[in-house]
Amino acid sequence: KITKVHAREIYDSRGNPTLEVELTTPDGTFRADVPSGASTGDKEAHELRDGGARLSGKGVAKAVTNVIDVIGPAILGQDAIDIASLDAQLCALDGTTDKSKLGANAILGVSMAACRAGAAAAGEPLYVFLNRLAGSPKMVMPMPCFNLVNGGVHAGNALPFQEFFACPTGASTFREAMQMGAETYHALKALLKEQHGLDSTGVGDEGGFAPKLSSPEDALKLIVSAVERAGLTGKVTLGCDPAASEMYDKDRGVYNLDFKKPAAEQQPENIMKGDDLVAYWVEMAGKYPLTLLEDPFDQSDFESHAKLTAQIGGNVEIVGDDIFCTNVQLVKEGIERRATNAMLLKVNQIGTVTEAIAAYKLCVEHEWGVFVSHRSGETEDTFIADLTVALGAGHLKSGAPCRSERLAKYNQLLRIEEELGADAQYAGTDFRKSGRF
Ligand code: PGA
Ligand code: ZN
Repeated sequence: KITKVHAREIYDSRGNPTLEVELTTPDGTFRADVPSGASTGDKEAHELRDGGARLSGKGVAKAVTNVIDVIGPAILGQDAIDIASLDAQLCALDGTTDKSKLGANAILGVSMAACRAGAAAAGEPLYVFLNRLAGSPKMVMPMPCFNLVNGGVHAGNALPFQEFFACPTGASTFREAMQMGAETYHALKALLKEQHGLDSTGVGDEGGFAPKLSSPEDALKLIVSAVERAGLTGKVTLGCDPAASEMYDKDRGVYNLDFKKPAAEQQPENIMKGDDLVAYWVEMAGKYPLTLLEDPFDQSDFESHAKLTAQIGGNVEIVGDDIFCTNVQLVKEGIERRATNAMLLKVNQIGTVTEAIAAYKLCVEHEWGVFVSHRSGETEDTFIADLTVALGAGHLKSGAPCRSERLAKYNQLLRIEEELGADAQYAGTDFRKSGRF
């Protein structure tokens, strides 16, 4: 039974305010922190911010009040274990389709904290509780995709693409995958220092390096060299999330790979139509050991997505983030149009754990991959680590092996692997078999 509902404004990894919820039951007090994105999809559930002058309008005092004064009285005395009914009640209490009345941040904080309370009531770890909530798929240790080079809106360099991943497909345990990630990260740091000077080793929002590069191919080549230097060639593959909605020029209907450069420095060959960008990705997939590509086109460009998936989807997992926003309706459309072959799962894009699991289930039914993700604005909360194992999603991204809000998730996964003992299976090369291990 829920005996107290509390919330407070805390700060995320970018120094922006975010929401923390605390739910008290006879088993204790259970906490959840809500993350926040920078390259958000247009159709994400509404993150309620105060506006006005305080904290540049980013305060979450209204969301805090909504948890304490509106949600609290409505759920007090209830059984925290029935997450499906609780989430349905939260959605009904809000009453809007995008959770703009109470705020998706307010609702998600309660939903996640309730899962922790439910796990405690059942006397089991969070991942076991979430696994049952998802219909008990086989639990699997995910392949961690390390975002080693930061660009796009996550870094102050001219790199147009947001994330460049090192993916330890060839590890045999999660612990070994972490070691490969850390070794590649340090090899990359040494390379950057040698080739671009010490001031190129500063990091971006997700802990990856943010060197003064502007060519995405230079970033890919650097990671290939770092993998080689770490002696891991063949065991660590590459991934990329260009977050292409950020470089899409709606008015001209073109992708501007020089969008971070002053107008006078923008080159005509870096202004691409959808078909040019399809050809570009096909070329990159041929030249580099690319196994995962997320948001290669704008969130409205289903057509280019489908063309690319038809061409390289066999070898490369094509993941939809902004295009789907962890939303069942949008994923349905994506499946019908064969837009991608995988979905990015971010709990705060949709606002309840139940709805995120529903989107996951739809993907599993259609043999799509599910790639679990943090946000660029994070906290020390480790919920997604447990969720990824619980869903048998096979892969997750939580940034570079750098900055503790990123490592908090990876370190939690090390603990879970230890707890699972001999039962722990690492996804590795099978990372696309989400929910079907
Ligand atoms: P965001 O970035 O959290 O800033 O949206 C992550 C992503 O695009 O995958
Ligand atoms: Zn993305």
